[in-house]
Amino acid sequence: MKPQSFEILSAMLRSSSGLVLGPDKEYLLETRLGPVLRRHEVWDLDALALKLAPGGGGARALADDVVDAMTTNESFFFRDDKPFAHFRGHALPAMLAARPASAKLRIWSAAASSGQEAYSLAMILAECRAQLGGRSVEILGTDISREQLTRAREGLYTQFEVQRGLPMQYLVKYFRKDGTQWRMNDAIREMASFREWNLLADPAPLGRFDIVFCRNVLIYFDQATKTRVLDAIARQLAPDGMLYLGGAETVLGITTRFAPMAGERGVYCLAKAAVPNLAAVG
Ligand SMILES: C[S@@+](CC[C@H](N)C(=O)[O-])C[C@H]1O[C@@H](n2cnc3c(N)ncnc32)[C@H](O)[C@@H]1O
Repeated sequence: MKPQSFEILSAMLRSSSGLVLGPDKEYLLETRLGPVLRRHEVWDLDALALKLAPGGGGARALADDVVDAMTTNESFFFRDDKPFAHFRGHALPAMLAARPASAKLRIWSAAASSGQEAYSLAMILAECRAQLGGRSVEILGTDISREQLTRAREGLYTQFEVQRGLPMQYLVKYFRKDGTQWRMNDAIREMASFREWNLLADPAPLGRFDIVFCRNVLIYFDQATKTRVLDAIARQLAPDGMLYLGGAETVLGITTRFAPMAGERGVYCLAKAAVPNLAAVG
């Protein structure tokens, strides 16, 4: 691939999805874009760059497929355990105690990939049904990858995927065998909905959330994009809401709108200065 083709493709990826592709990652373009080139009948990466260059006339569908193919979608059930234990043991009881029974609890899985994070939360909520006392809870999973969202909605997982992190008793209770795969049962599937959403967009239309899981996606963004995404999430979070990030992610040095929860790695609340002073508003 010509150096200018790499420049065009990496600039397109950065501006449309936030994904930063260093020169050492050129091989990723070669390994991941083969099927997209074939599907769109584009000869090679140089021809693709010409089409996607500003004014190159490349179709939107082509650019979307390139972005989709370049996302890293690895996910698994109850990934890293601790955030889910914290959600169940601390965040959920605190939110339930602080809100009237009529208030709906809203949870956002902001880089949902193939749905394991959203469904892990749904299974926890199913286990805590008595605690919820009939309260309605909404889990929204969003992602930029249409392919992954289709998988998430389907709720169909391979043997390998259900062996990663999912406790055996949950597999038995919440899945049924479907050929060589495992299908999430309808009751859990219906607790989560999935929607295409780019984290670079203003999330105001998604509404206010009590809990946000935004895990293992900021690592692909540059500093300015991380700040922009975290500040936008802060605007959508309830004043006592909580944000969960991935193990290699932090707010420190990136935004002052969040503060780490004391003694809890990867869990953040709004910094005092970022919480609107409701009394002052009236
Ligand atoms: C590694 S997966 C993380 C999945 C899950 N949160 C977890 O921790 O297991 C990262 C996901 O972020 C999505 N993603 C990347 N850039 C995005 C963007 N700009 N807007 C929304 N989703 C994005 C990818 O499509 C991918 O599914």
